[in-house]
Amino acid sequence: MKLRPWCPSDCRLIYDWRMDASIRRWSFNQAEFAYSDHEQWFARFLADNKRLGYILEDSQQAVAQIRFDPAEMPFCYRVSVAAAPGLSKKGYGSLILQLACASERLRGLANLLVAETMVDNFPSQKVFARNGFFAAGKACRGVHNLLCWALPMASDNDPVAVQLFAEKTIQDELQKILVLTGQGYLSDGSSRLKFFFDAATCPLESPGEVIFHFNTCAGQLLLDLAVGFSKKLTLPLVFDNPQMAVIQICAAFKGLSGQGLC
Ligand SMILES: CC(C)(COP(=O)(O)OP(=O)(O)OC[C@H]1O[C@@H](n2cnc3c(N)ncnc32)[C@H](O)[C@@H]1OP(=O)(O)O)[C@@H](O)C(=O)NCCC(=O)NCCS
Repeated sequence: MKLRPWCPSDCRLIYDWRMDASIRRWSFNQAEFAYSDHEQWFARFLADNKRLGYILEDSQQAVAQIRFDPAEMPFCYRVSVAAAPGLSKKGYGSLILQLACASERLRGLANLLVAETMVDNFPSQKVFARNGFFAAGKACRGVHNLLCWALPMASDNDPVAVQLFAEKTIQDELQKILVLTGQGYLSDGSSRLKFFFDAATCPLESPGEVIFHFNTCAGQLLLDLAVGFSKKLTLPLVFDNPQMAVIQICAAFKGLSGQGLC
């Protein structure tokens, strides 16, 4: 078994797998698209040093592929994985996820991995759960109901103190995922990182505080305000749910703090 990065000659193979009905069935965009569009996307992907794609080979035959794209926040990456059509149920999906997550290059870029699977995509849920991903709530994208997943990657995984201003159900969900992933813990006043949801009011900010406000709008969670965060964000940013938003922000905050930037 060998894990290797995508190369230009993989362009056709990645397209053919992506267009195969057994894989398209589980894609959020199930429409077919032209090979010429794919070629342009693939060339941009390979030229972008912030995106990673790998192939798993078994006896020199490509048997699975995986890619990592920057997610909503810095230091956070979104995983997309597939076994070759006709080669599922052989453990290749799980193996490529395991090997790629251990790669030096990914570990140098990512503090947190996220993924989404459709609620009825049981093979992919097994693959993520078996490889240490934590269930990070539900979401809805267009007509698709999803389960969200998250895996902390940072070797220095000290949790960040956060303050939450949200209704109790959101607070409870957030507390659970922060503890599970080790990304943060609830503090009652001394933390610099503060999250406000919807109508929760924002007390006067103190120097050094980093404040985020989210608005739920037509079933979407929008980050519409970020104060004191050292990285410029293009707002509004859309997140799948409060859990995915807060753990990504904690991971980004830790990454920037580690570089002395937060
Ligand atoms: C999800 C996917 C990557 C799993 O890869 P895989 O190589 O089949 O993974 P594994 O062999 O480790 O199988 C994981 C589990 O799913 C089951 N499984 C895989 N394919 C299955 C299928 N078509 N029908 C029923 N069960 C299936 C396996 O039997 C195994 O369960 P078990 O150990 O309880 O028997 C693969 O099914 C795939 O490419 N799906 C389409 C793309 C996709 O959904 N990607 C995930 C979203 S990012």
